[in-house]
Order: sequence, then structure tokens, then C-alpha cells
Amino acid sequence: MKILLVCLGNICRSPTAEAAVREALAQRGLSDRVEVDSAGTGSWHLGDPPDSRMREAAATAGLRLDGEARQVTTADFEHYDLLVAMDRANARDLRALAPDEAARAKVRLFRDFDPDADSDEVPDPYYGGRRGFARVVEICRSGAAGLVDHLADEFDDRGTHRDRPA
Ligand code: 4NP
Repeated sequence: MKILLVCLGNICRSPTAEAAVREALAQRGLSDRVEVDSAGTGSWHLGDPPDSRMREAAATAGLRLDGEARQVTTADFEHYDLLVAMDRANARDLRALAPDEAARAKVRLFRDFDPDADSDEVPDPYYGGRRGFARVVEICRSGAAGLVDHLADEFDDRGTHRDRPA
């Protein structure tokens, strides 16, 4: 299973979601079964590390961010099973980029996997204050738990199907 987390710049929300998903996979012993990366729909920050404000908020909560910003490509729709958007604009941009209907069907909203979500979007913290960055970390941890629960269910289902007599 391969998952791509997607936001606008790939320097705030999606690197945090990526780190939170890796953490949740490790906690469940699923790290070897899922490939995770992140990317942005925009190109302003190509090659940049995660935003220093975002790294600080994440580090305060015990989450380390790394990687360099890159932009989503059409090839990502072939490689990844799910392209998981942080907000509706990201999802809309991804669907516009998708080469065909099968690719469009891979686009999902991150918070749709979170049963406790109070909104379907991860708010963009870029032009706001510190509290917004701290909130992104909380949302990403909660969303990651929901996404990894979903993946674990998928693996269980597949196992059940495999074990079923023909
Ligand atoms: P992100 O945040 O999409 O969560 O990485 C942003 C980063 C940069 C910009 C906007 C949002 N920007 O306008 O440069």
C-alpha cells in the first residue's frame, strides 16, 4: 500500500501528516507494509525543508519533520494507491491533475478518515500564528490514527479473503 499526503506548499501540513502517519504505522507494527510520502500542489517551495514554525510546533509535540518540498506529478497517480488531500482546494487541484477516472478515484480528504474530526479540512497555518501550527500537529495525529485504522482494516479484510476456501 502506498500513500501520498498532499497540501499546497509541502512545507507545513503534508510533512506533518507524513510524520504522524509514519508514527501511527510504527505504533501498529505496519511500517513495512505502507509506503508514505508527501507533496504539494504548488511549486513555490520546491526543495525547501519544512517551515521552521511547523518544525518547531511538531518538535514540541515530539514529532520530527524532514524531507524537501516537491510538487505532485501525474506519475504519482500511477505509483500511489491513495492521494490524501489536506483541504478541499488540494483535493480539487488533484482531481484536475488526475489523468483519468481511476486516478480521480484515488483522491481522498485526510480528515474523512478521522471519526473525531470537527471539519473536513486541515486549516492552512501559513499566514497565522503559533497556535495554528500546534493545531495542525493535533489534527495530523488524530487524522493519522484514523487513516492507519482504515489501512489496518483493509489489511484484515484482504487476509480474510485470502484465507477463505475457494
Ligand atoms: P502547506 O502551507 O500547504 O501546509 O505547506 C503553505 C505553505 C506555503 C504557502 C501556503 C501554504 N504559500 O503561500 O507559500
